[in-house]
Amino acid sequence: MNAKIFAAALVVVCFGGVVHARTIAIIGTGDVGATLGPRWAAAGHEIVYGSRSPESGRVQALVVETGVDAWAALPSDAAVAAEVIVLAIPFSVVEDLLPRLGDQQGKIVIDCTNPLSRDLADLVVGHGSSGAEIVAGLLPGARVVKALNTTGVSNMRDTAYPDGPPTMLMAGESAMAKAVVAGLISDLGFEPVDAGPLKSARWLEPLAMLWIELAYRQGMGDDIAFKLIRR
Ligand SMILES: NC(=O)c1ccc[n+]([C@@H]2O[C@H](COP(=O)([O-])OP(=O)(O)OC[C@H]3O[C@@H](n4cnc5c(N)ncnc54)[C@H](OP(=O)(O)O)[C@@H]3O)[C@@H](O)[C@H]2O)c1
Repeated sequence: MNAKIFAAALVVVCFGGVVHARTIAIIGTGDVGATLGPRWAAAGHEIVYGSRSPESGRVQALVVETGVDAWAALPSDAAVAAEVIVLAIPFSVVEDLLPRLGDQQGKIVIDCTNPLSRDLADLVVGHGSSGAEIVAGLLPGARVVKALNTTGVSNMRDTAYPDGPPTMLMAGESAMAKAVVAGLISDLGFEPVDAGPLKSARWLEPLAMLWIELAYRQGMGDDIAFKLIRR
């Protein structure tokens, strides 16, 4: 039995016969990519980092930290190999980078980006559109889900709060894709909440700005998170 089949079998055993291990391409190895990768790997997923410099010492150290099933490749090779693609890149590069990923028809794409201005003080897209809708336009046929953009890496790393798990809102057109993304969000310890169609990214991206404002300009720090409460 080779290592990958053994790892898959282990996941089947550990999760009571439900196969849910996925190959996830994380495009970008900065704060978000390097935080999500090890956490999803620990939940049993195979991680391939899509990087401009997959052979660099920095990226190879991240691969080693992530675990035995992790590897790194150029972004287009990583995207081809995966069933779920996570965009952990500056929004300013999507127009150049996404068309170079090739045909991503049918793939699930998690858009974590926020269309921030250079000084991080404003959104450069809003009201009548969203970064996520621009991303979807650059990846024809992909099932784009906006998610993991409304919080900081501090919470992607650790979702433990005394009042229970933070909410992670997501938006997208495909119910199937949102079900998969909800599972991945749960693996990180967030409570996934469906905010409706991709157009709702127009409201999720300003919510990210609010988190940034509270954490950094209002001085609350990054150990804060949004939670939906119900009665
Ligand atoms: N940081 C947060 O707390 C947070 C939270 C929610 C959402 N976001 C959003 O998530 C995205 C990633 O954020 P981040 O904090 O991880 O950013 P980051 O630390 O700057 O990392 C971005 C990564 O994108 C890749 N990249 C590809 N082309 C690039 C280019 N031309 N210039 C610079 N980087 C390029 C790089 O990886 P390679 O060198 O391997 O190619 C780089 O490490 C952003 O859109 C951000 O707004 C961030």
